[in-house]
Amino acid sequence: MARSIEARAILEFGTLGAYSTIWLGRALASDGRLVTLEANPAYAEVARENVSRAGLADVVDLRVGAALDLLPALHAEGVGAFDFTFIDADKENSPAYFAWALEHSRPGSLIVADNVVREGTLADAGSDDPKVQAQRQLHEMVAAEDRVRATTIQTVGGKGYDGFTIALVDP
Ligand SMILES: C[S@@+](CC[C@H](N)C(=O)[O-])C[C@H]1O[C@@H](n2cnc3c(N)ncnc32)[C@H](O)[C@@H]1O
Repeated sequence: MARSIEARAILEFGTLGAYSTIWLGRALASDGRLVTLEANPAYAEVARENVSRAGLADVVDLRVGAALDLLPALHAEGVGAFDFTFIDADKENSPAYFAWALEHSRPGSLIVADNVVREGTLADAGSDDPKVQAQRQLHEMVAAEDRVRATTIQTVGGKGYDGFTIALVDP
C-alpha cells in the first residue's frame, strides 16, 4: 500500500523488532523518510540493529518513548505531512494516534490501523476490554469524519481472526 502511493514520508506507531518498519522502509521512495515510535528501549535496540542490517539506518528515524509523549516534538519539528501512517502500538491509544495522524496527513494519504477486529469482539458494545472499546471508538471516529473514506478488512490466519482499518484521506 505504501509503495502504491509512492510514499515519501511514513509514520509508524509501534516498532517492536522492526519487521513492519523494514517492509515500509523498503517501500519508501528513494528520497523518503520513515519515523517509527517505540516505547520499549529493549525492543528499540533490537529494531535498530535490524534496521541497520537491512541497510535502512539512513532513512529510518527510530524514536524511543511513549508515542503520545513523542508526538509534540514531532509536531514542533514540522515533520510530515505523512503520506502513510501505520498504527500498531498500544491498542488503547489507537483513536488518539488516528486523530494525530489525520492532522498530519495530506489529501491522498493512507492511515492503516492494525488489530481492530479482535476475534470479532469489535462488534460487542458491552465488552469491558479497553482495547475493544478503543477499536469501537476508532470506528465511530472514522465513520463521523468527513475527511476520510475508510473500510475495515477482516483477516483470518495463523494468528487468528482479526483485521485492519484502512482510511484514505479524502482528496
Ligand atoms: C504489535 S507490536 C508492533 C509490531 C510491529 N509494528 C510489526 O508489525 O512488526 C506493538 C509495539 O508497540 C509498542 N508500544 C506499546 N505501547 C506503546 C506506546 N505507548 N508508544 C509506542 N510504542 C508502544 C510495544 O512495545 C510493541 O513493540
